[in-house]
Amino acid sequence: MTRIPMVGGNWKMHLDGRAAATLAGEIAAGAGGVEGSVDLAVFPPHPYLGVVSAAAGDSGVVTGGQDVSDEPSGAFTGQVAASMLVDSGCTMTLVGHSERRHGLGEDDVLLSRKVRTALDEGLRVLLCVGETLEQRDQGKTFDTVLGQVRGSLALVNTDDLACVDLAYEPVWAIGTGRTAGPAEAQEVHAALRSELGSRYDARSAARIRILYGGSVKPANAAELMACEDVDGALVGGASLQAESFLDIARAAARRE
Ligand code: PGA
Repeated sequence: MTRIPMVGGNWKMHLDGRAAATLAGEIAAGAGGVEGSVDLAVFPPHPYLGVVSAAAGDSGVVTGGQDVSDEPSGAFTGQVAASMLVDSGCTMTLVGHSERRHGLGEDDVLLSRKVRTALDEGLRVLLCVGETLEQRDQGKTFDTVLGQVRGSLALVNTDDLACVDLAYEPVWAIGTGRTAGPAEAQEVHAALRSELGSRYDARSAARIRILYGGSVKPANAAELMACEDVDGALVGGASLQAESFLDIARAAARRE
């Protein structure tokens, strides 16, 4: 089964409005070079979603939220509803990034509700999973990530799965300059796909995209993208420059 890879730029809490619009415009201008062979998405801070969507225009570069509330609306100070993301031009959202799981203590019960709420609003979900260094050293990598997938997708049925992408992001590789080697990434991606095959069905598992994230750079993108079960990248630091982000996109587009 051919899966069109996706390369997403997670801008985290960086840039200002003007820089975000400029970066989105530069990425949009370069997107034509990979059109049809890789899907591109950017995840700016919430206040810049509107300007970024406008700057991306009809380039095909999709805008997504970095997080979403598990509630559809109401008295939830500081939270952003899925409908508000849609209203700001988003068609996607991240859920469960490690800086929220580990940094802010979000657990799988909460994340499963966020996934459900986002899907109900028609958003695509890019669900992130990954183990800490301690969990890896204790030999708990597979238990951890498979448990996160089971828990966070608890409210997702087989039909919904067509609107879900996964990202495997080992916590010890995020922003550290350390990446999982291609073999390390591939074995976790394969395990995730097999888990989805048991929980849903083989066809859905073969179709779902599993991105890799954690210090992906132009220099290491090609070898990661060459892995059979790696279907693109979620990029933090290297997504803040259009050229390095587009270089990674080109590496993903070339994978065979
Ligand atoms: P990084 O971040 O590429 O800077 O390691 C990846 C991420 O957090 O999604």
